[in-house]
Amino acid sequence: MSHWSVEERTAIDPGRLAADIRQALSQRPVSIPPKWFYDEKGSQLFEAITELPEYYPTRTEEAILLAHVAELPLVDTLVELGAGYSRKTRLLLEALTRGGRELLFVPLDVSPRPLRDAAERITADFPTVTVRGVVADFDDELAPLPGEPGSRMVAFLGSTIGNLTPVPRAAFLERLHRATDPGDWFLLGADLVKDPDRLVRAYDDSAGVTAAFNKNMLQVLARELDADVDPDDFEHVARYDPDLDRIEMWLRARHDVVVRLHALDLVWRIAQGEEILTETSAKFRLEGLRTELAAAGFAVATSWTDDAGDFSLTLARRT
Ligand code: SAH
Ligand code: AVI
Repeated sequence: MSHWSVEERTAIDPGRLAADIRQALSQRPVSIPPKWFYDEKGSQLFEAITELPEYYPTRTEEAILLAHVAELPLVDTLVELGAGYSRKTRLLLEALTRGGRELLFVPLDVSPRPLRDAAERITADFPTVTVRGVVADFDDELAPLPGEPGSRMVAFLGSTIGNLTPVPRAAFLERLHRATDPGDWFLLGADLVKDPDRLVRAYDDSAGVTAAFNKNMLQVLARELDADVDPDDFEHVARYDPDLDRIEMWLRARHDVVVRLHALDLVWRIAQGEEILTETSAKFRLEGLRTELAAAGFAVATSWTDDAGDFSLTLARRT
């Protein structure tokens, strides 16, 4: 009989957001960590993004997974970082439970609702899977992971690693190295460098879903920090930086804006045209990925891409 639980390891609470906002306001440009997109509505908007014709990463990664899932090691524990609703992950769960194998599945996310929904559904659909969800921030130390050393795989899909800039990314990989054991596997989905126009369209879709996702961060501020802020005072901007190989998402003030952050007892003045950085989404080259992984103690076993070379899935082993 399978079962599920969700443990709240980190309280993703307004105090944490308040500290991030104080820090953000002390810098120019103001840059708010993208984890604050993902309240319940933000998580749903992200799911809607994954269905957009312009947003190729999800369906491309899913196709690569489908093509190569049978080549993955048959581990006993699957940890998934930034799991969200774990929709693509079902392909992994199917492969790892074939023939009635038992599996411990540990999805980790800052957003509790998708974790609970996924835990319930996966438990119902996969009788030999035990789900131990963890609400936690992967910017924090990743405690030693459940499961037997060497028979674990950590999946980090969707190119969420690209939402970390290079220095925090290296720090993240070091934390992952500390939390894992020699022989553990790391399965990493990473979006690749491509035509900038396509990239901008993927982050500024014609239906305006990505714009709504971006502006939802202001609604999170309004609710969690009792802020007087009107999302319509801002416009969604997506730009590609070819020097840094990254998409940037900004919120640009349409006119002078005064945001009262009552919970912080702070008044935030934003001039017309000023931009707030809400997300960077790095696009990778396979060689660069291999180097970053090796530097952190993960040896690449294989990298797969789709035929067009749009997206990559890399299997590495913790040394
Ligand atoms: N893995 C899914 C979802 C990607 S969206 C996919 O490939 O489609 C990014 C996910 O990472 C969201 O569910 C978000 O809540 C989570 N996330 C973002 N920042 C995080 C952080 N610092 N710690 C833990 N989870 C985070
Ligand atoms: C979760 N993350 C990898 C997405 C990305 O593509 O950077 C978030 C996203 N932002 C806008 N669209 C999707």
